[in-house]
Parts: sequence; structure tokens; C-alpha cells
Amino acid sequence: MIHKNYIDNPGAVSDLIEDARVHRDVYINQEIFELENEHLFKRTWIYLCHDSQIPNVGDYYSTTIAGEPLFAVRHTDGTVKVLMNRCAHKGAKLVLDVKGNTGKFIKCPYHAWAYDTDGKLLSIPFKKGMENTGFDCCEASHGLSHVDNVKSYRGFVFIRLSGKGIGFEDYFGPVLNSLDNMADRSPSGELEVAGGCLRYMHECNWKMFIENQNDTVHPMVAHASSAYTAERLWREEIESGGQVPDAIRYVVPFGSSYEFFDKGGVRVFENGHCYGGEAGGIHDKYAAALEASRSGYEELMISAYGKERVKEIFGVIRHNTILYPSVMTKCEIQQIRVVRPISASKTLVESWTFNLKGAPKEELIKTQTFSRLINSPFSFVGHDDLSAYESMQEALHASGNVWVDFHRNFKAEEVGPKEIFTNGTSDIYARNEFRAWKKFILEGMLEKN
Ligand code: FES
Ligand SMILES: [Fe+2]
Repeated sequence: MIHKNYIDNPGAVSDLIEDARVHRDVYINQEIFELENEHLFKRTWIYLCHDSQIPNVGDYYSTTIAGEPLFAVRHTDGTVKVLMNRCAHKGAKLVLDVKGNTGKFIKCPYHAWAYDTDGKLLSIPFKKGMENTGFDCCEASHGLSHVDNVKSYRGFVFIRLSGKGIGFEDYFGPVLNSLDNMADRSPSGELEVAGGCLRYMHECNWKMFIENQNDTVHPMVAHASSAYTAERLWREEIESGGQVPDAIRYVVPFGSSYEFFDKGGVRVFENGHCYGGEAGGIHDKYAAALEASRSGYEELMISAYGKERVKEIFGVIRHNTILYPSVMTKCEIQQIRVVRPISASKTLVESWTFNLKGAPKEELIKTQTFSRLINSPFSFVGHDDLSAYESMQEALHASGNVWVDFHRNFKAEEVGPKEIFTNGTSDIYARNEFRAWKKFILEGMLEKN
């Protein structure tokens, strides 16, 4: 297939996004992927890690965002610094593990240049060879490059790589209350990452994963084999109100009807964010609110916040929240899923579970069970989705139709308002994501020209 040239061609990029359909190149074209890195993933706020992963001075967490290797590290003053994982000398990586501790300073494993945890160059072995060479005036002597725009919100650390762009609160707006609600469900108001990460590669474009989180017309089809089998095997106990294993209670709702998901609704916000299910979602039947009394969790919450406030906190029901473009959260079961795009057709997906600090261990077991069942590399639910993503990634190369369709419940008046609540089976979540996608990428391209 011969691709158009998109780099330096904002008109061609703009033509890819129509009101209710998008051109396949947004998923399969590598130039578009490069433009996304440059203008979407650098100019917006991307999730990096959680505070609880780096509690002590020198603790670090490393990853790659928009193609740039970097790491968050706890500085001596207690703040989180985000540094490029690139030695100022010849460019070796400074931290080689995903997480660890730097010790008293960051030492390059190649020639042992040493840096403070804020990136300042501390020492160079055998330094006399650098004297009177002009070294003092060049970048290398200034230490490590760092990211200026770092924001920790309720412990969730986000960065904006670009020096230019929208502020954190303006970017996320009201959708931040999904993170608030997750943290508020802890009697201490604090979360901590529990255990490791379920991390696996998807051979597909990152947007397929993000879009799928609020695609409510797929579960009853793609998850029919898992959800309906679970329901058939346990029907008697479910109908009689008998004992049903948690795993079965988590899987069966994936087979809910179109009408159920439609009634649950979807709320979209400017900049591509959204959540579904506020008027009824698939987690309601086992959400904390209904089960809080079984472990003493409810009493702990009431003594921390008071009855009324706890009612409000447990009253927030939501399916998946998208903090566009990098994160999906489930506040009721304390998990987040993060996309790390690798190429147009390859995406690393990470699933993290959180402990509600101070809550009984039953609450953590709930989120861990859900995560293993639905999100792990051996899930019998998540792979229904993965198989769909990977088949689309391949099939979009077919000739004939070059468009991906999002017409369900499209109305011209949805373009413009900052927030809309509508029926849950609408494709509005995707149209809204692509409007943000187009806005940020075109703004960035036009600014460069
Ligand atoms: S590359 Fe790091 S000290 Fe030489
Ligand atoms: Fe699914």
C-alpha cells in the first residue's frame, strides 16, 4: 500500500477525521504515529507512575513516553523529579531497571559520571582532562535534561513533555473526580500500588484499546463465550440468590444487554476524556457500596468521613474512565490501565491494581481478582478484546473501504459543548476522542510551520 505523506501536511491530517468516521491511516500509518508522539503525547498530560512506587529518596521508576526514555526519581527535598534516562556524556542509559534506588547519587554505568537526583552533574572521574577544553560551556556540563511539567494528583504522577501546552487542571477538568473517587474510597484518602504490574504487548494501535473501554456494543458479542458460559453454569445459584464465586459475579455482567448498557449512559468532556455507566454499570452488583459491610470496611469509612460523605463516595458508579490519551481507570475497583504506544501497530498495555490504604484486605483481594480475571495475559475475557484489536489492525489494510465508522447516535449539535451526557451505546466517546486528537495534532503541526 502506498501511503500519503503526512509529515508537514496538516491539510492531509485534517482530512483523516470527519465528524462520524475516521480514515484507517490513523491506525496503520507510521507517519501518523510519529505525529501523535510529537503533538499529542508531548503536548498533553501523560501518566507516568504513582507516588507510592517511589516513596524514599533515590527511588526511581523508568518508562518511555512519546519515544523518550525517562524516569521519575524521589529527590532529597521530597519532590518527584523527572529526568531523561540519557547520560549527558555519550548517552548511555543511567537506570537500567524499571524500578530501583539510585543510592546517594545517579552513577552512569559506562564512565561513571555522577548526578544528583535533580539531574545536576556532581562529578566526572579524572576530571583534569576536561579543564580548559570548552566543556564548561556545553550541554554536557549542565547535567541531565529534565521535564519541567510534572504534576502529582492524589498520588498519580503525570507529565507534559512539551514546554508549551495546556495546564494540568484545564486539560483534565471534571474528569479528575474519577481519580478523587478512587482515592476517597480509602479510609486514609490514600492509595498505594499493590504488587507488580500485569504488562503485555498488544499487536495493535493504541487507540483501539482506548476506544474499546467505552465501546458498549461489543461485550455481549465479543465476550459471549466467557460471560454466557459463566452465566449458564451458575444460573441456578444466581437466580436463587445462592452463593456465587466472586469470579463468576465479575464475568457474568459482561453479557448484559444492549438496553442495559444504553441506559447506563456515557459522559464526554473536552480534550477527549469520558466515562460510562454513571446511571448503571457492570460493576454495581459487586461495588464497594453493596459489600462494604462484609469486611468492616463501611464502618472504617464512616468513622473517617461520616455517614453522609460515605454515601456520596459509594454513590459514584462508573464503568471505565478515560483520561485521554494514556489512561483508563476503574474507580470502584481501584485499577488503572496505561497505554505505552510502541509503533503504529504495537502497544504495551500495563494494568495496575491499588490498595486502599487502611481498608481491610478483602478490598484488595477484590481488585486483584478482577485484574487477574479480566486484564492479565491469561485472561479469558481480555483476550476476546485483544483478538478483535489485532484482527482490525490486520484487516484495515484491505482495499475498498478506507473508513472506520462511528455514526451510532451522531448529532451535529454534539460538536462544540464542553460536556455531554447521552445514551451509553452512542459512539460519541470515539468521536470526542478524535476531535481532541485532531485539535492537538493540528495545533502542534501549525505551530511548527
Ligand atoms: S556515557 Fe555516561 S559517563 Fe560516559
Ligand atoms: Fe471487552
